[in-house]
Amino acid sequence: MNPSLQGLALVTGGSRGIGAAISKKLGSLGYHVVVNYVSNEARAIEVVNEIVNRGGSAESLRFDVSKEEEIHTAFQKLAESPHPLRVLVNNAGISEDSLILRLKKESLDRTLETNLSSAILCSKEAARLMMKQRTGSIIQISSVVGEMGNAGQVAYAAAKAGMIGLTKSLAKELASRNIRVNAVTPGYIETEMTGALTPEQKEAITRNIPLGTLGQATDVAEMVGFLASEGARYLTGQVIGVNGGLYI
Ligand SMILES: NC(=O)c1ccc[n+]([C@@H]2O[C@H](COP(=O)([O-])OP(=O)(O)OC[C@H]3O[C@@H](n4cnc5c(N)ncnc54)[C@H](OP(=O)(O)O)[C@@H]3O)[C@@H](O)[C@H]2O)c1
Repeated sequence: MNPSLQGLALVTGGSRGIGAAISKKLGSLGYHVVVNYVSNEARAIEVVNEIVNRGGSAESLRFDVSKEEEIHTAFQKLAESPHPLRVLVNNAGISEDSLILRLKKESLDRTLETNLSSAILCSKEAARLMMKQRTGSIIQISSVVGEMGNAGQVAYAAAKAGMIGLTKSLAKELASRNIRVNAVTPGYIETEMTGALTPEQKEAITRNIPLGTLGQATDVAEMVGFLASEGARYLTGQVIGVNGGLYI
């Protein structure tokens, strides 16, 4: 065991986009980063290699966050690690846009299970480990859409708003054990998730952003790095917008 390590940090959906930036940030802060993915092993390994090449420590771990059994098995593995779990970032998510009259039950279930139930179940498993250590930081990657709503994203917005309720309730449940729970609500961030937007759509969105540009994954990662740190020791139950002023 490397004594200089800060402990384990699990980033769900750490293989791409915002999760990859968060993994690299936490790697640079001295955590042993567990980079979770579901299908994109090569991208997860790329993130691990980048962290290791910069002198950090990381490994990839495949599990589907929408499957309770797989979550449980993954956390059993983490519990066997010599490093204590210090940080959980519930970042994995999907967005399937649909107007409500066209919304299919399967899409609704998939969206709620991957974005919301996953965060609740991973938080439950993490809480079990962190409660014994009487320290930890759980960070939910919600969305500005969960705060403002968005036509065509009823299921996604409901899931992301649910993550805010999860954050506030869990913060109250776990504060006495010195476990902090916070949410970050990104605005529009340039990743593969927003890659499907046309230049016209991007321009229309940007017109409503006071700071005048879409965000970068590193903008979210910086906030997560802070929330995980001792500098944020007095923050819990908070919802922090990283949105260029889109929602104030
Ligand atoms: N981009 C934005 O503008 C924006 C704004 C607000 C909030 N967010 C939220 O930020 C988070 C990351 O978004 P992003 O833009 O970085 O997305 P992304 O580029 O599409 O990456 C999604 C990540 O989630 C993983 N993932 C998806 N389903 C999974 C599952 N069932 N089990 C485990 N991992 C799974 C993917 O793994 P694989 O590589 O294996 O597929 C990938 O690592 C999401 O929760 C999203 O809702 C994004």
